[in-house]
Amino acid sequence: MTNGFSRRGFSSGVLGAGLLRPALAQEPPNQAQAEPIISTYARELPVLARHGMVASQEDKASRVGLDILRAGGNAVDAAVATGFALAVTLPRAGNIGGGGFMVIRLAREKRDIAIDYREMAGGLTDKNVFLDANGGFVPAKSQSSGLGVGVPGTVAGLALAHGKYGSGKFTLAQLLAPAIALAREGFVVDEDLADSLPVAARRLAKYPSSKAVFFRPDGGPLRNGDRLVQSDLAATLALVADKGPKGFYEGAVAVKTVAAVEQAGGRMTLEDLSSYQAVERAPVRGTYRGREIVSMPPPSSGGAHVVEILNILEGYPLGDYGQNSARSIHLIAEASKLAYADRSLYLGDPDFVKVPVAGLTSKAYAEKLRGTISETRARPASEIAPGKPQPYESDQTTHFSVVDAEGNAVSNTYTLNFSYGLGMVVDGAGFLLNNELDDFAAREGAANAYGLTGGEANAPGPRKRPLSSMSPTIVLRNGGVELVTGSPGGSRIISIVTQIILNTIDFGLNAAEASEAARVHDQWTPDFLEMERGVSIDTIRLLEGMGHKIRITRAFGSAQTIQRVDGALMGAADSRQRGTGVAGY
Ligand code: GLY
Repeated sequence: MTNGFSRRGFSSGVLGAGLLRPALAQEPPNQAQAEPIISTYARELPVLARHGMVASQEDKASRVGLDILRAGGNAVDAAVATGFALAVTLPRAGNIGGGGFMVIRLAREKRDIAIDYREMAGGLTDKNVFLDANGGFVPAKSQSSGLGVGVPGTVAGLALAHGKYGSGKFTLAQLLAPAIALAREGFVVDEDLADSLPVAARRLAKYPSSKAVFFRPDGGPLRNGDRLVQSDLAATLALVADKGPKGFYEGAVAVKTVAAVEQAGGRMTLEDLSSYQAVERAPVRGTYRGREIVSMPPPSSGGAHVVEILNILEGYPLGDYGQNSARSIHLIAEASKLAYADRSLYLGDPDFVKVPVAGLTSKAYAEKLRGTISETRARPASEIAPGKPQPYESDQTTHFSVVDAEGNAVSNTYTLNFSYGLGMVVDGAGFLLNNELDDFAAREGAANAYGLTGGEANAPGPRKRPLSSMSPTIVLRNGGVELVTGSPGGSRIISIVTQIILNTIDFGLNAAEASEAARVHDQWTPDFLEMERGVSIDTIRLLEGMGHKIRITRAFGSAQTIQRVDGALMGAADSRQRGTGVAGY
């Protein structure tokens, strides 16, 4: 069964995960493979399955992952195939020219792994790379020039995951085959892809190599119903299938990549590419109301701050306060401000700076921070500064979640940074370059494209990885997977993932309801509380009365969530984006 239906179509009641369970339990096994089970109890309906599931932002890629699961692959095999497929079918964020993070839960071994395949600055990158002669930050350097391109990590990361944690039943070439076919044969451009192109058209149009792929012969971007064929990308993927990561990081593709970066004004070398390594890191761990939280450590700030915020909120009976009530939103905002303030000071590439993860994620530190929160008054950003955790212990990204029949799970978020990254397709190699190095703090206090500030810990430097907010997360209960989630959304990712967890654990919502609920976000600076439409005006007035400066924003994020209840799977692809898909069996 596979489905990407709009969850707005079904109504009645506001009941959560528990009430879908009986419907699934009564279903004879053979019927589970036919149609999704529609419960009349829940307000928003997840896709249901019994064995395995893939939730991603592009339906064809989810189906690729499902085919691998059905053919006996494990969650890692399916994730690798989905990741390569998204590089073809969701070119604005799926990628081989960017990087990301993968969190894996191995059920039998009860072991968690975090793979860091974040892009890395080239060896010639210096601290002042994005400044002018007067020390001023020049956003065009980090956002629209080759100087902002990091050494891509995706091919290394997916190959590492496959080699060490795949089932061993599939070669890398077999997992790449669907992506190669989609790139070579092409596919029909749908509304989602067609709508994403005009937004990035100015950046894409700067490069003939990009126009050749994403524009019509008569000039404008491809439209709904056109065919997107990516022959050069197919050839690059085929080289990876043939030679492994060397097909990407060495030889003809590497030469073309260096030439493209130089043409865009950057300074990447062949050695930067050939020496790139994806690395395994110890996941960030925390607990929340009897669950274990497993998430991404630095160079992502995501896991540390999701856990920090949850730790602070654990001290309040949010379930009693109510989902998206003024009281709950106020506390989420106040806890978030404290975490984002810490982010600005402490977080960076752990290979270069010591990050006090244990301090930031300790219950004692959370208790201290909680003590500074007023339940009735919003603290202005100017009153908040990064705290003192215990000393150092020794708008376009995409997420997909996978669970297999053994209970293994993968939570993966990867990105090109901006939609279509730098906008430049590597001539002759067919993939888009990232502009990820804008995630560095170009200088103390200078805001990046997401309004995030930082300092020394996240300063640019040779072979450094810029700080990220990507938060691929797995929640465990009694040692088994309960929730796999993550989202794009730049600085808002941490808020989105935290709220998916709160919505399911504190407020009892199922995966689809948790995804659909209006989201809020407060990142300390700039000093306002962002809110999607859907929160009542009464609630907004109450929050304003406490001192929050509210901004109603466009919908943000695209969470891809799988929830596991008594072994049954409930998947939700975020309806804030079109074309998303949950595929399960
Ligand atoms: N480029 C957005 C992030 O990594 O957080």
